[in-house]
Amino acid sequence: MAAKYFIRNITACLSRATISSHNTMKQFSLITNFLLTNRRVFTACPAGIEEKCNRLIVQWKENLIDEYPLVWLRDNCQCSACFDQSSQSRTINFSHFQLNQTMRHLTIHNNNLEVHWEDGHKSAYDFKWLRQRSFHHTEQQNWLKSNKAPYNTWDADCFKKIPVFDFKAVMQEDNILLDWLETLGVWGVCLIKNAPHGLGQVGSLARRVAFVRKTHYGEEFSVQAKADATNVAYTQGHLQLHTDLPYYEYKPGINLLHCHIQYSGNGGDSLLTDGFKIAEKLREKDPETYKCLVETKVTWSDIGQENGNHFHKIHHAPVICESDDGTIRRINYSQPQRDSHMAVPIDQVEIWYRALKKFYDLATDASYLIEFKLKPGEIVTFDNLRILHGRTAFGDNLKGERHVQGAYLDWDEVRSRIRVLKTKLLVN
Ligand code: OGA
Ligand code: ZN
Ligand code: ZN
Repeated sequence: MAAKYFIRNITACLSRATISSHNTMKQFSLITNFLLTNRRVFTACPAGIEEKCNRLIVQWKENLIDEYPLVWLRDNCQCSACFDQSSQSRTINFSHFQLNQTMRHLTIHNNNLEVHWEDGHKSAYDFKWLRQRSFHHTEQQNWLKSNKAPYNTWDADCFKKIPVFDFKAVMQEDNILLDWLETLGVWGVCLIKNAPHGLGQVGSLARRVAFVRKTHYGEEFSVQAKADATNVAYTQGHLQLHTDLPYYEYKPGINLLHCHIQYSGNGGDSLLTDGFKIAEKLREKDPETYKCLVETKVTWSDIGQENGNHFHKIHHAPVICESDDGTIRRINYSQPQRDSHMAVPIDQVEIWYRALKKFYDLATDASYLIEFKLKPGEIVTFDNLRILHGRTAFGDNLKGERHVQGAYLDWDEVRSRIRVLKTKLLVN
């Protein structure tokens, strides 16, 4: 009751002490002093506000000051003429937008800072909303970081046991779904056990998260030894470590591989290596090799047909792709799907092959590679931008004794799902 009364008082006072943007300083300091003396009572309200050099300077408390460019404030007006609440989208017409924004006066009302613009428009900004959009470099970086999932790289030793989840629990419990998706972001690989018998489980699992990412091999694809295979995976041969689909510019982010039937003899084992770990090792121990694999773009391609659909995909990209900030972002590696065209200066060719050999030798080294045999009902899920995977040969002689079904998801959808689940479950 007391707080409410006080807010009303502040509002009344501020409304009277309107601030002209042409003759600001005196009147701003009036508000500043008023709020400074009373900030202990109502801390969410700014202790002081002034306008300087086309910025609104808000002093929240003694050592906490935010600055907001007026052009940004006007652009982010939350009124129904400028922002559509139902689609949560800015609708302000940019053709009519003035870059030089000037304020006439300022009021505070119900936890909102109200800006009365020179042209008569009025904008209201919630204090918390403003604080969350601080332009301080460290707060901006923290916000960017909060949108990027941290990850831990692993080698064979530190990764004896793959994180395991139960299919039914993932399908039915949101907190388990969230745990699986976040763990996948951190470790790049998780095993899901106890999937029901029968095909279609990877599709159900993918749809539980978001949408199946379709490729020219279909939404759900069967990995089985076949005559006239359209992909070397569809043979009984050894499948060397690789990332799937390097020839897509927008490469599917997550692989789901469900073991429907496993080969009962020796072989058909799964192989996994953390590609980010290999890249990090090279960056640390052999920077020349690392640099060569980051700077040399080679061509990845896939040509053929699947179910009567002909395809011819091409993408030029290095084996190790970095983000603008130098973090490792994506690994491309697939022996069968590296094109014979090589648009690389001729004197770089041998150097690049030497670098690639070092990369692959490290990836297949026993200290980095893990090997295990999937059992029927198990789904191995992994980050296709990061993890190299493969399979040992098996001797099924085209009898269909081993049948793995796969599907893909995209990281954009998965990250979005993580954020939505966190909001729903109120996890920070
Ligand atoms: C693939 C693949 C693995 C397996 O189809 O790309 O890697 O275990 N398959 O058959
Ligand atoms: Zn508006
Ligand atoms: Zn594969």
